Amino acid sequence: MDVNSQPLNGDTHPNKQFLNEVERLQCVLKEQDKLASIGLITAGILHEIRNPLNFIFNFSKVNAGLLDEFREVLAKGVNNLTHDDFDELKDIEVNLNRNLNKITENGQRAMRIIVNMLAQSRRENAEDFESTDINQLVDEFVKLAYHGIRGNNSVFNLSIITDFDASIGKVNINAHHLGRGLLNIVSNACYAMEQKSKQVQDGTYTPQLTVATKKTTEGFRISIMDNGTGIPDEIKENIFKPFFTTKTSSDGTGLGLSMTHDIIQKLHKGKLEVNSKAGEYTEFVIDIPVKY
Ligand SMILES: Nc1ncnc2c1ncn2[C@@H]1O[C@H](COP(=O)(O)OP(=O)(O)OP(=O)(O)O)[C@@H](O)[C@H]1O
Ligand SMILES: [Mg+2]
Repeated sequence: MDVNSQPLNGDTHPNKQFLNEVERLQCVLKEQDKLASIGLITAGILHEIRNPLNFIFNFSKVNAGLLDEFREVLAKGVNNLTHDDFDELKDIEVNLNRNLNKITENGQRAMRIIVNMLAQSRRENAEDFESTDINQLVDEFVKLAYHGIRGNNSVFNLSIITDFDASIGKVNINAHHLGRGLLNIVSNACYAMEQKSKQVQDGTYTPQLTVATKKTTEGFRISIMDNGTGIPDEIKENIFKPFFTTKTSSDGTGLGLSMTHDIIQKLHKGKLEVNSKAGEYTEFVIDIPVKY
C-alpha cells in the first residue's frame, strides 16, 4: 500500500489507515492458516484411513468370492449334499466369519483414526506422551505396513532384518503419532521395493528391509532401510514437502513424509534424515531425544 498517497484528514490519517490495513491483512493470514490447517487435517485423515480401507476392500472381495462358493455348494440341493459338502460349507462359514471380524476391526480403526485426528486438531499434543516400548512399537508398525502392502499384492515377499537395542527400554513419546510416522516410512519402503521387484523380474532381486533401533547419548535412534528404487538426487529435497509425490493420485497423497517430519521434528524435537542412492537403497534415520 502506498501510504503517502492517502489524504491527510481526521480518522483517515495515513498511519491509522496503514495500521488498519495491517490488521486486515493479519486477519486474512490467520484465516488462511486456519484453512491450511483444515486442509492438512482433511488430507491427513484421507492419508491415514487408506490403509484400513484397503483391508476392508480386500476382505470384502475375498468374502464375495467365498459367498459365491457357498451358493454353488448349496445349489446342489439339500438332498444331494454329501458329508464333504457339509465340511466345505463349514469351512467357508469359518472363513467368512473371520474376514467379517477383520472388516469390523478395520472399520473401527478407520473410525478411531478420524476421531483421534479431529481430537488432535483441537488440543495441544503434549498430554499424549506416554511411556512406550520403542522396539515393540517399531515391530508392530513394520508388520502393519507390510501386511498393508500384502493385502494388495499377496505375492510380494519381503525379508525383514531387525536389530533392536533392548537397552532403550521404555521412553516417553507420543506413540500414536510416532506409530503413524513409522507406518508411512515403512509403507514407502515397501512400495519402493514392490516397484523394484516389478522392474527386475530376472530373479536376481530380493526385497530386504533392515530395521534397527539404538540407544544414543541424547535418546534413541530408529533406522529403516530398504533396497528398493531409491530416491534420485533431484527429488530428494522435495520429499518432505506437503503434497509432493511421485505416485499416482490413487497410490499416494504426498502427505506422508511431511506429516512424519512434523511428528518427529516438531512434536518430538527430533531429527529425520534420509540417505539414498537411486536404484539401490533408501534409509530414513530418526533421532529422538529423551530424558532417561
Ligand atoms: N523408501 C523410499 N524409496 C523411494 N522413494 C521414496 C521412499 N520414501 C519416500 N519416497 C519418495 O518420496 C515421495 C513422498 O513420500 P510421502 O510419503 O510424503 O508421500 P507418498 O508416499 O507419495 O504418498 P502417501 O504417503 O500419501 O502414500 C514419494 O512419492 C517417493 O517419491
Ligand atoms: Mg508415503
